[in-house]
Amino acid sequence: MADEQSGQIVNVMKESRLFPPPAEFAAKARIGSAEAYEQLWNEAAKDIEGFWGKMADELHWFKPFEKVLQWDEPFAQWFAGGQTNVSYNCLDAHLGTPRANKAALVWEGEPGDSRVLTYQMLHREVCKFANVLKKLGIQKGDVVALYMPMVPELAIAMLACARIGAVHSVVFGGFSAEAIADRNNDASAKLQITADGGWRRGKQLPLKETVDEALAKSPTVEKCVVLNRIGCEVSMQEGRDFWWHELMEEASADCPAEPMDSEAPLFILYTSGSTGKPKGIKHTTAGYNLYAKKTTEWVFDVRDEDVYWCTADIGWITGHSYIVYGPLTAGVTSLMYEGAPNWPDEGRFWEIIEKYRVNIFYTAPTAIRAFIKWGDQWVEKCDLSSLRLLGTVGEGINPEAWMWYHEKIGGGRCPIVDTWWQTETGGIMMTPLPGATATKPGSCCKPLPGIIPEIVGEDRKPVPTGSGGWLTITQPWPAMLRGIWGDDERYQAQYWADVPGKYLCGDNARCDEDGYYWIMGRIDDVLNVSGHRLSTIEIESALVSHPAVAEAAAVGRPHDLKGEAVAVFVTVASDFEPGEELRKELKLHVRKEIGALAVPDDIRFTNALPKTRSGKIMRRLLRDIAAGRQTVGDTTTLEDYSVLAKLRQDED
Ligand code: PRX
Repeated sequence: MADEQSGQIVNVMKESRLFPPPAEFAAKARIGSAEAYEQLWNEAAKDIEGFWGKMADELHWFKPFEKVLQWDEPFAQWFAGGQTNVSYNCLDAHLGTPRANKAALVWEGEPGDSRVLTYQMLHREVCKFANVLKKLGIQKGDVVALYMPMVPELAIAMLACARIGAVHSVVFGGFSAEAIADRNNDASAKLQITADGGWRRGKQLPLKETVDEALAKSPTVEKCVVLNRIGCEVSMQEGRDFWWHELMEEASADCPAEPMDSEAPLFILYTSGSTGKPKGIKHTTAGYNLYAKKTTEWVFDVRDEDVYWCTADIGWITGHSYIVYGPLTAGVTSLMYEGAPNWPDEGRFWEIIEKYRVNIFYTAPTAIRAFIKWGDQWVEKCDLSSLRLLGTVGEGINPEAWMWYHEKIGGGRCPIVDTWWQTETGGIMMTPLPGATATKPGSCCKPLPGIIPEIVGEDRKPVPTGSGGWLTITQPWPAMLRGIWGDDERYQAQYWADVPGKYLCGDNARCDEDGYYWIMGRIDDVLNVSGHRLSTIEIESALVSHPAVAEAAAVGRPHDLKGEAVAVFVTVASDFEPGEELRKELKLHVRKEIGALAVPDDIRFTNALPKTRSGKIMRRLLRDIAAGRQTVGDTTTLEDYSVLAKLRQDED
């Protein structure tokens, strides 16, 4: 254990299981051994520019680039002087090849309707919608705001923007009118695209109604395109609102992709910051596109015959990079599902896997914990034998949940890629490679080629092996964010000021003696108990390893003697009774798993934890509750306000 003065974080997580890549998988993999990975990583580390310069041949260039990387910290230009087009790389590039008539998007609606768009068909729709955008007055550089359900038209609209050089800003279809308006105003969006509504757990979500409210407060938005998805009643404002299908009827299918500068903005994606004011993360064209393609190929080891399913919503970065841009550039069949995993029942995901013979399945730990809670009987009903690779993203996965995923979903035969990355990084940064890396449950394993991490202490110096500290990235990479929309100062201050010369990602991590990385949660999630710093995920993992615990969140609360005491919020598995007995047992369990240091002072049982709409536990809110404070700051991303009210009630 590291001590208090060095400012290092105590590591208490013990995990010794190791899962080598199955020989059969490795034999066919693009990167099929640890040596092959090391070689590629070393090659990139020695010559970042040479490495990516060579890779860039895989994109279509209307004009070749002059310089691979121009780095004026913190501003990067990748492939400067070159011109390409992301929509071209996703679509046109496949048209003269056997992929032209292959399924690009396989879509399943929540009510059970289904559509398949081949590359050719998707290309046609995108060209037509690109002409619609032009007709509505959208030009290169204009911002188009999207607030859509998970339907193919969302991907079509994104690709159409990319085709003509418009910048899209997708806002997740669960956000409020207030949040849409904030984002529209920050980005000076000119056009809004939405649908009448979408399906969620059998209910109609009235999207257009929310947009109407948002547009009343979005003065820069001139027009609005409305897709008829569910056929509900909507009000259409004359001169402002247009039906998608009416515009498409008249649109020509001829729309060559516009040559775009490598650094032309491709999209803005808003993410929450520690201050509560959302940050518009800016991503640009060539570097992002190349990185999305290469990481899709390396990490998911996609093959032409695969059906690949990423369950994220396109409203998040995972959907941007690994439903749309990465898979399509790589020529993959990408499955999209509109609705909830528990509609009409808890077996929906497994039925989809069986129905479409899904080979690669990429989901979030929060979903996995829900699957565990719902019970194995849903999984056992379906044939999941088509699966050959599993992935996770979004937060650390508790080793016990990892084991369940491995055994119950992967049948013990599928490698699991635990991918660490962020909205800001644009693509996966650290992950096992399924044919090369022996995995350790709970570790995101190793950096991808071209990614050079370094963990530093509060003194800004690298920490010794095994000690926790701030995770930084020491070299620019092609998909890195290019800034915060309209706020260079905040960009500099947030990511580049605290550790000079390095990208500070805001997570704590440690690297073990085998060079494996373990993410220890956000920097501000760290607890300081009696001078020992503990990360929340370790306490949570210990709790979740107890059969009675379905989900757990640990936070610190002020404590007179210890500085901070550990407070945990626990949801209980269906066969167990919350109560004093269980409370005692869980304390003992944590003591046994981690030690007396981490034993929670408070254990509160709850039916649900407050989460962002992307499924992350909102520890900030729990910290306030644990400390008995009124919640301050931004709660616009909270999925279900009643959870918060209920937790407060329980206090009284
Ligand atoms: O704290 C890390 C956590 O999610 C953060 C990024 O969140 P966001 O920008 O919403 O992007 C999520 C999808 C890429 C990170 O700073 N995180 C993401 N993946 C992992 C993770 N923490 C641990 N393990 C992961 N695999």
